[in-house]
Amino acid sequence: MIPIARPFIGPEEEEAVARVVRSGRLAQGPEVAAFEEEFASLCGAPYAVACVNGTAALHLALLAHDIGPGDEVIVPAFTFAASGNAVLACGATPIFCDVREDDFNIDVADAETKVNASTKAIMPVHLYGQVADMDAVTELADRYRLAIIEDACQAHGATYNGRRAGSFSTAAFSLYATKNVMSGEGGMVTAQDDNTAERLRLLRNHGMPERYVHTTFGMNLRMTDLIAALGRVQLGRLEEGNKKRHDNAAYYTQQLHGAITLPRELPGREHVWHQYTVRVNNRDAVRQTMVENGVGAEVYYPTPVHRQASFGGSGAPALPVAEKLAREVLSIPVYPTLTDDERATIADTLAAAVKGAE
Ligand SMILES: Cc1ncc(COP(=O)(O)O)c(C=O)c1O
Repeated sequence: MIPIARPFIGPEEEEAVARVVRSGRLAQGPEVAAFEEEFASLCGAPYAVACVNGTAALHLALLAHDIGPGDEVIVPAFTFAASGNAVLACGATPIFCDVREDDFNIDVADAETKVNASTKAIMPVHLYGQVADMDAVTELADRYRLAIIEDACQAHGATYNGRRAGSFSTAAFSLYATKNVMSGEGGMVTAQDDNTAERLRLLRNHGMPERYVHTTFGMNLRMTDLIAALGRVQLGRLEEGNKKRHDNAAYYTQQLHGAITLPRELPGREHVWHQYTVRVNNRDAVRQTMVENGVGAEVYYPTPVHRQASFGGSGAPALPVAEKLAREVLSIPVYPTLTDDERATIADTLAAAVKGAE
């Protein structure tokens, strides 16, 4: 079976973790500080604050912008539920908007129809590794004085007009086991100003600017040095890994051209291919055939978030593009460790499965 995800790790990761174990300093310490600096530099952001996972990173980002009860945050419906759950965790309300067919990302024109006096923030999600239309997001946010919280959990290293994900606003990244930079579990928030960075650090650590002095609310959402040591090695592999993902994506696009609807890298954007996601009719039958033939194909996501019971379910207003995409999308393996034979098998298996399901 060719799995849908496979880690891109080597002896350097083992050595880094062993170094921390031997040091006896396992909690947040110098590895976390170095990882934050390196991560911020990669994104072209002045600050990065590490935490336990991407969901916590989104939660911290929203809290740092004072999002709370009575506030609304506009979130694209075609995303992982964590984007909406982080808003609920603040006591605020996620208002879901539709997405675009060309990049699967937020439809800013639809988002604008949801803005009202309670709207405090907008959360573009850089789905599958392609940055959302940040010019349009920024223009809307400026016009209505909204905070922007990027959900960059799938977009490590992706660019938009030469700027990296995480450099536009306060942004959350996940370091979950399958991500382009991974540490098993982990999260990072980038910030563009000193005040936000300091608030993030306090919120992450019981509101303690110094030991046993609590100036504000906070939790324990700290990353450990063990995780940071692993993440630092992974960060060093990002350029190479993203290049391999890009090559694999280019191969699929060449092989499958004309057969089905393929994902597009829009002008001015560097997609980092966290997922390579095609659109097919009879999607469930195509997926079933692929799995039976040894190729792990997956659906991200079969139900748009506004249709989930925890967010309103069947009574939620229609968001037609998100609903259509949820019926048609299918992701195939695109990770850096795929061999040439494997990717040929994947492309052939998909083409045959699509033909068989016609
Ligand atoms: C778009 C998106 N947002 C948020 C998250 C949450 O990240 P984590 O799983 O690290 O909590 C993920 C992770 O899968 C994600 O893909």
